[in-house]
Amino acid sequence: MTASVDAILSPDTYADPDAMDALFTRLRRDDPVHRVEHPEYRPFWAITKFADIQEVERQPEAFLNAPRTFLRTLAYEERARAATGGNPALLRSLVFMDAPDHAKYRKLTQAWFMPGRIRVLEEELRTLAKEVIDEMAARGGTCDFAADVAPYYPVRVIMRLLGVPRSDEPLILQLTQEIFGSDDPDVQAARTMTASLADTVKVFADYFRDLTADRRRHPADDLATLFAQAEIDGRPMADHESVSYYILVATAGHDTTSSSIAGGLLALIKHPGELQRLRADASLWPGAVDEMVRWVSPVRHFFRTATKDYDLRGKRIAAGDSLMLCYPSANRDEEAFEDPFAFRVDRPANRHIAFGYGPHLCLGMHMARMEMRIFYEELLRRIADVELAGDPAWLASTNVGGLKRLPIRFTMA
Ligand code: HEM
Repeated sequence: MTASVDAILSPDTYADPDAMDALFTRLRRDDPVHRVEHPEYRPFWAITKFADIQEVERQPEAFLNAPRTFLRTLAYEERARAATGGNPALLRSLVFMDAPDHAKYRKLTQAWFMPGRIRVLEEELRTLAKEVIDEMAARGGTCDFAADVAPYYPVRVIMRLLGVPRSDEPLILQLTQEIFGSDDPDVQAARTMTASLADTVKVFADYFRDLTADRRRHPADDLATLFAQAEIDGRPMADHESVSYYILVATAGHDTTSSSIAGGLLALIKHPGELQRLRADASLWPGAVDEMVRWVSPVRHFFRTATKDYDLRGKRIAAGDSLMLCYPSANRDEEAFEDPFAFRVDRPANRHIAFGYGPHLCLGMHMARMEMRIFYEELLRRIADVELAGDPAWLASTNVGGLKRLPIRFTMA
């Protein structure tokens, strides 16, 4: 299986859905717990079966999020260590934490993200969705939905949650895209503001430090106020952890949702029968949103590191080994889903793991579902016809991916 070794590491694989599906289908069939070795990376195991990813994620004491959380080259890890004084990650947010800190930090915002709490934001989100759709309509019948429309709604939602003023939208948009899309040549070419990921993080850090200081003086109903007042073990949350929390919410909730919205529209264009069913029966929306998220699986992986020797599907994982949890593969697993390559808005018992699983399960999952449902309810109310006006293109990214170009032609009702 040597050809697949390089492909799983290459951002280009994730920019080509057919190549990605072919690679993962082959791995699931021939070597679902596959050892990847390459001179530019520390070795790891690629975990491609749904049941195996659940088995790993449900044992957080055996498989840690730190110290290796994402796929990074050895050179990147060395640069990060130099910048942080020894830590291979630049930030210290939930996704880089394990017990006991993880639960303490997660508890700070957990209640805020629960369905009952976020329901009060429904009308505000609807207003934001209508505004973005009005801007789309003003483009006069054609647009690049992935670049011109999809990113603006989640970024406005996130800014509302955090308490960032609307005038700072371009800054937040560019910074979040640089953090997640940084492998893609188009993103590299557009990199005007900052020269490297470490610089991007520093711009964010300065910005959010000022926002926290402001909320200490002027509290409001937002996450910035919650972070400003938060205490861990009886002391105010430290600066680095507070900035990391902001960056996590700003980035985790942005490209993921934007990619799911754009990928969802492409799925509807390619499956007009499913679009007709949604137009006829709005009660299908909650399930349709989950099918879109499964279909797109924008988070390509997270890593875990074993604390002890462990046998997984007949392979011996040694203490200290790391594992790449390949979510897009799990969400096409023939043993977990009936007809996994079909897009079905009424897929029964759609227990996908695009939001992860276990104690790190996506904190913004209910928010993402509500956001997407509201956006699509408003879009389908306004749009009469939509079709492709050119070839779609996907981001070359091993981390969070999805469409970067989706040229469409549309008529508003
Ligand atoms: C379709 C959209 C989204 C997808 C596919 C997604 C996916 C994920 C995944 C796969 C994880 C890691 C889970 C694990 O390790 O098991 C995660 C964690 C997280 N997500 Fe999301 N996410 C989405 C939207 C959001 C939104 C809108 C927010 C916030 C506004 C958010 C905030 C977070 C946070 C804070 C974590 C860290 C949780 C922890 O480590 O305890 N996400 N997400």
